[in-house]
Amino acid sequence: MPRTFVSVVFFLLFLSLPLCSLSQPSNSVYNTFLKCFSKKTKTPRAQIAKNVFSPTNPSYSTILRAYIRNARFNTSTTPKPTIIVTPRSYSHVSAAVLCSKPLNFVFKIRSGGHDYDGLSYVSDKPFFVLDMSNLRDVSVDVPSNSAWISAGATLGEVYYRIFEKSRVHGFPAGVCPTVGVGGHLSGGGYGNMLRRFGLSVDHLIDARIVDVKGRVLDRRGMGEDLFWAISGGGGGSFGVVLGYKIRLVPVPPVVTVFRVEKYMDSGAVDMVHKWQYVGPKTDRNLFMRMLIQPVTRNKVKTVRASVVALFLGRADDVVSLLAKELPELALKKENCTEMTWFQSALWWDNRVNATQTDPKVFLDRNLDSSSFGKRKSDYVATEIPRNGIESLFKKMIELGKIGLVFNPYGGRMAEIAEDATPFPHRNMLFKIQYSVNWKDSSAEIEKGYLNEAKELHSFMTRFVSKNPRSAYLNYRDVDIGVNDHGKNSYKEGEVYGRMYFGKNFDRLVKIKTKVDPGNFFRNEQSIPTLPRKL
Ligand SMILES: Cc1cc2nc3c(=O)[nH]c(=O)nc-3n(C[C@H](O)[C@H](O)[C@H](O)COP(=O)(O)OP(=O)(O)OC[C@H]3O[C@@H](n4cnc5c(N)ncnc54)[C@H](O)[C@@H]3O)c2cc1C
Ligand SMILES: *[C@@H]1O[C@H](CO)[C@@H](O)[C@H](O)[C@H]1NC(C)=O
Ligand SMILES: *[C@@H]1O[C@H](CO)[C@@H](O)[C@H](O)[C@H]1NC(C)=O
Ligand SMILES: *[C@@H]1O[C@H](CO)[C@@H](O)[C@H](O)[C@H]1NC(C)=O
Repeated sequence: MPRTFVSVVFFLLFLSLPLCSLSQPSNSVYNTFLKCFSKKTKTPRAQIAKNVFSPTNPSYSTILRAYIRNARFNTSTTPKPTIIVTPRSYSHVSAAVLCSKPLNFVFKIRSGGHDYDGLSYVSDKPFFVLDMSNLRDVSVDVPSNSAWISAGATLGEVYYRIFEKSRVHGFPAGVCPTVGVGGHLSGGGYGNMLRRFGLSVDHLIDARIVDVKGRVLDRRGMGEDLFWAISGGGGGSFGVVLGYKIRLVPVPPVVTVFRVEKYMDSGAVDMVHKWQYVGPKTDRNLFMRMLIQPVTRNKVKTVRASVVALFLGRADDVVSLLAKELPELALKKENCTEMTWFQSALWWDNRVNATQTDPKVFLDRNLDSSSFGKRKSDYVATEIPRNGIESLFKKMIELGKIGLVFNPYGGRMAEIAEDATPFPHRNMLFKIQYSVNWKDSSAEIEKGYLNEAKELHSFMTRFVSKNPRSAYLNYRDVDIGVNDHGKNSYKEGEVYGRMYFGKNFDRLVKIKTKVDPGNFFRNEQSIPTLPRKL
């Protein structure tokens, strides 16, 4: 009896002083949470404690660090979560949502932890982390051309499980095998088959989420609006994604990869200029990524332009195709390697000897990625003139470190309506990723590189999409705006929201307002609710 009384008093305290809960000693928050979690899951506290961690727990740091993929957010001054929950079942996820709600903490959801600005595990407000990495089941069903892929699985696991069952099935998703399904698919997801098959979210059959009421809902249960929203509208705004049912795509038994490089003194400017007319228009079986990097060669500062490509076909065919369409590349058969689609995924992951690499490397989660990094994005709708490419190269040499990646669109991408999914950038020529990585932990150095990224982004203004200038959600970039979770969050959210989603932002806001009016599922760049009418 006295115990019930105490918890009622506690509860009333939380209700009457919601903001004060933030100053509760974390131990009491932990105990309150644990008690609720244990009750909701009907599991003894001792057992539950294996899945709920406070900073005093000896495993806390290991668990937090396991999915930090950017060393910028791995320092002693990086804000840390008050509680980490690592659910092992849907009912754990449900309980985590319901038990967090009254505590008024920001509830961060993390699957693969690849968010470029760390939003899945960092916040400047007191926060919890729900780490989905234990919910990683992947089951592939070749007869029905489909697979169930859990949020906590990695793309490498998805590719590997497909490879186990078939050499002529694949899935169009990202090229980095440690990226998580949860963030990748909820944010759109693209890879080197995008010109042939579009985005990952163009191949969704079903999904499961836990909503703000703690319910586990499939596509029928959540309805078409919410299903649409989680097909690219961003993880963390609408619920906890448990996983997706995807449609597999056919891949040929033999594909071709190649990498060819040019420098400024060997025609890089012309090649990059011409690439803009070919990359987005050529045979949709061909994806030619362009990497542009300032380098020092023979003691001279120059720019290297590298084409890294996947062709869903044979080497002879892509060599003769490019002899006609892009002779500036001077592609030879010797530059090409034929292999299976799965091996091409290894090759794209920088496994030089893809055909001799153990396929099981794609199951490895313990990669030691300790580099610091920053990314930004842009879209190009009309070709950059030749003198523009020249001035860009000069600018990149002047800045010294930051590189660019051009990803060609066209093909299947341009056939899909802009509102078919929340991802609106269907008719662009290509996407630019700004990319800088470094190894030194000094704050001064970090500031320099972050500024380099901003400066190049600003330099590119004249060449890229406008009104709104566009950006790719999965290339998370807090420089383009954040919301403070407060009363101006709609106005703040509209800034980055229009850049990421264009006109689709309005539908996302409507759905958000309907399914999560209290804005429980939020982060610095989540979809805001509509401002309340006065
Ligand atoms: C090395 C590297 C390579 C990449 N390559 C590609 C690429 O080829 N193509 C591409 O499209 N993108 C690529 N990306 C970007 C990547 O798609 C995004 O960072 C993606 O959001 C990562 O998903 P995650 O689960 O690993 O990340 P997380 O950091 O766990 O999550 C990212 C966001 O999604 C939310 N979220 C995560 N899980 C869930 C869930 N279960 N339910 C609801 N919300 C959730 C998080 O709260 C966060 O806001 C790459 C990133 C890196 C670091
Ligand atoms: C492409 O092949 C040609 C002919 O063998 C060779 O000279 C050239 O160096 C190769 N290019 C690359 C980038 O490997
Ligand atoms: C690639 O494989 C060849 C032949 O097995 C070997 O000689 C070479 O050292 C390997 N290269 C790398 C980078 O592993
Ligand atoms: C984070 O820091 C730990 C301890 O210094 C280190 O072992 C780990 O590799 C780091 N991870 C990243 C991504 O920087």
